[in-house]
Amino acid sequence: MAAWPGLIQHYREYLPVTNNTPVITLNEGNTPLIKACHVQEVVQPQVDLYFKFEGANPSGSFKDRGMTMAISKAMEEGSKAVICASTGNTSASAAAYSARAGVGAIVIIPEGKIAMGKLAQAMIHGAMVVQVEGNFDDALDIVKGLVEKHKFALVNSINPYRIEGQKTAAFEVCDQLGSQPDYHAMPVGNAGNVTAYWKGYKEFHGKGKISSLPVMLGFQAAGAAPIVIDKPVINPETVATAIRIGNPASWKGALEARDESGGRIEAVTDEEILSAYKFIASREGVFCEPASAASLAGVIKLSKKGFFREGNTVVCTLTGHGLKDPDNAIMISDPPVKVASTITAVEEVLKGCCI
Ligand code: F0G
Repeated sequence: MAAWPGLIQHYREYLPVTNNTPVITLNEGNTPLIKACHVQEVVQPQVDLYFKFEGANPSGSFKDRGMTMAISKAMEEGSKAVICASTGNTSASAAAYSARAGVGAIVIIPEGKIAMGKLAQAMIHGAMVVQVEGNFDDALDIVKGLVEKHKFALVNSINPYRIEGQKTAAFEVCDQLGSQPDYHAMPVGNAGNVTAYWKGYKEFHGKGKISSLPVMLGFQAAGAAPIVIDKPVINPETVATAIRIGNPASWKGALEARDESGGRIEAVTDEEILSAYKFIASREGVFCEPASAASLAGVIKLSKKGFFREGNTVVCTLTGHGLKDPDNAIMISDPPVKVASTITAVEEVLKGCCI
């Protein structure tokens, strides 16, 4: 089988690229669709649940799908620098693709509220990293102001090319399953991704590649759930810093996905998020970041209300890799046991657990 060429090459016919578009790729996409094997412990009745593990993308999140498109188009248009606001993953991805393209990247992030791995990525890829004493919504407002004054290409998901790239995840789910799922669950922050998936599913349906459309299920963190409460949240707070957003740019797109698909956008508490996060890692062997686990947390919550039918196919997008946020993993796990450097001392602590 030929090597995967990246999503622009693979789904070219569905994307706004021409022969003049320089394709900037890190061979993103083609991420695994992993069947959950213990999920009946937390979701009833028994459903076929899959994780679309976007943490397997080159920079460790789904943002790479949008970024390959946004940076390729920025290069086609001759941009000298790109800019974004970010809760971390967008900045990591923008920094990586900009490094590859040889274009400057400016990333504006909320001070102190981005996971360590993401900050490290933006820094090592050579982006100009600016921390503001505000949240993501403030940072995005600043970015919008800056692009009015300077010739920077904006690569947040209000850039339509980002949505174009990200919609390919829906194509992949259908190609991997051989049909559409009954339900598609995902975290919602700035709401670009749910907008992109819904566009992707609709396009595949329009082309006759799938026979019907899935029901879209989006989940926000309870402390940052503007779409759920139907008004912006001034001071969003959640342990899932990736979705700590109070005024999503693609609010309208999220409502369309919800309403056209007959779906839901609901809130899950930090406790529910962390419990799902731990379950996915400790029972399913997949390490995602906390925000990603909002998808399964929401599915668990709905299942308790009798939402699903036996045999339903449910896909949960796990948007980012757990390694990006080691602090939360360490915080909710048992600490390592410290002993003397001898066989007997190690054996002593293994008693009652493994021997
Ligand atoms: N999950 C992760 C891991 C994310 O990083 C994000 C968004 C989302 C879910 C939500 O996606 O915004 O399209 O609804 N992160 C952005 C960032 C905001 O700056 O990295 P969304």
